[in-house]
Amino acid sequence: MQTDSSFTFVLFGGTGDLSMRKILPALFEAHRAGGMLADSGKIVAVARHASDRAEYIQWVNEHVKSHVSKNGVDETAWASFLARIEFINIDLSKAEDFVQLREVIEGLPGIRVFYLATGPSLFVPICRALASVGLNDNARIVLEKPLGYDLKSSNAINDAVGEIFNEEQIYRIDHYLGKEPVQNLLALRFGNALFEPLWRREWVESIQITIAEELGVEARGDFYDNTGALRDMVQNHLLQLLSIVAMEPPHSMDSDSVRDEKLRVLRALKPIDPRDIGKVAVRGQYHSGVIRGNAVPAYATEPGVKPDSSTETFVALKVEIENWRWAGVPFFLRTGKRLADRVAEIVVNFRAVPHSALGASALRAGANRLVIRLQPNETIRLYCLAKQPGEGMNLASVHLDLAFDQFFREGQMEAYQRLLLDVINGRLALFVRRDEQEAAWRWVEPILNEWKASIKPPKPYASGTWGPAASSAMLAQHGTCWLEEEN
Ligand code: BG6
Repeated sequence: MQTDSSFTFVLFGGTGDLSMRKILPALFEAHRAGGMLADSGKIVAVARHASDRAEYIQWVNEHVKSHVSKNGVDETAWASFLARIEFINIDLSKAEDFVQLREVIEGLPGIRVFYLATGPSLFVPICRALASVGLNDNARIVLEKPLGYDLKSSNAINDAVGEIFNEEQIYRIDHYLGKEPVQNLLALRFGNALFEPLWRREWVESIQITIAEELGVEARGDFYDNTGALRDMVQNHLLQLLSIVAMEPPHSMDSDSVRDEKLRVLRALKPIDPRDIGKVAVRGQYHSGVIRGNAVPAYATEPGVKPDSSTETFVALKVEIENWRWAGVPFFLRTGKRLADRVAEIVVNFRAVPHSALGASALRAGANRLVIRLQPNETIRLYCLAKQPGEGMNLASVHLDLAFDQFFREGQMEAYQRLLLDVINGRLALFVRRDEQEAAWRWVEPILNEWKASIKPPKPYASGTWGPAASSAMLAQHGTCWLEEEN
């Protein structure tokens, strides 16, 4: 990919965790690959924890280098990457400091990107300060999640940012949309005539979407305890995956065609009746346990977490989509920390044949199932029935595997790299539009409210397991179970 789009990439929160782990490594990878970033493009880091450029570069050397390329760092590329970086130390809460920022970037080339890798409480002050010095015109602004705490606070941020930037200038990141396998899901669904006719209620019995993590809350206990899994993972990543799995074929891959279709799904989610929450939603919290042979502590004893916290670290939901394609098909969503494995996958369970001419073993052996594994190893597995060798007609479940890294050995791109290149090149399709975000908040809100008001604590589960038993029980009521044995 060649580009001549020059840019000035202003990174607020330049010494934050996200900049260190994701944003700067992604920019480096794009730089190292050659041809993806215009040579003249500049990065301007804004931070308080360094006094000048030399100190910032030292910080980048010490903290960012270990997060780039698994295959080691090419020192020449690293040096030329550092040469792109400018630095400015300003107080983000003081609008007058932004005059200095304007002076630094005034002579720099290309489209201006303002990346807000800061806490959400700074989003609005930063946007207002940028406007006060005339830096909002023709610029792009990137907002990290969490964007708000609920519908009201998300609207307040969007309203305030919307007074300063047009919707076409706003890039709301959901890094799951930048993952290669999520792109592949679009290719699978809309590039092949094979699956699309079957991708509907007549042939699909149920769908599961899981994002399971082995990690706990790490150093983010304080943030997480005020957030919980519903806000951290469901409102955004899981509902975005769901909308891509369930959406109608878009007219094209342009930004609004894709986002319009996703929005239709989000608006068609069956509203949750607060009286039914116990039947369609399970919340859990991890207790101590063992992960890969190591003892790990309970959530309530993690640093930054209140000992009597009722924040959920696990959520399982039954979701329905009220439209012709999906009426009556349950979508089961699940996410959690400190689970038995790190895996993200989509499981499409197809219906069994209506009548088996092949005898009872055909019905016993199960039906067709498509498993789209997003991580850790991107694979697609199609389960079919086949005859067992030998006498008689006994069927068994077998599978066809497609491992992407065996087909495409090169060219894999991390989510942040793809998304940052999209921002620089002005491609909005993989960013969340305001109406999508609102629809997602609107849908989760009854659950948030009910859980907040509830006196019942989240259900405990031991670290290293698949969450509370109630999650499996919910599926059992629909005659199905989570796919767990394949990991
Ligand atoms: C983030 C959440 O958005 O996604 C984290 O805030 C979570 O809590 C992370 O760990 C998971 O992302 P990935 O790409 O590692 O699956």
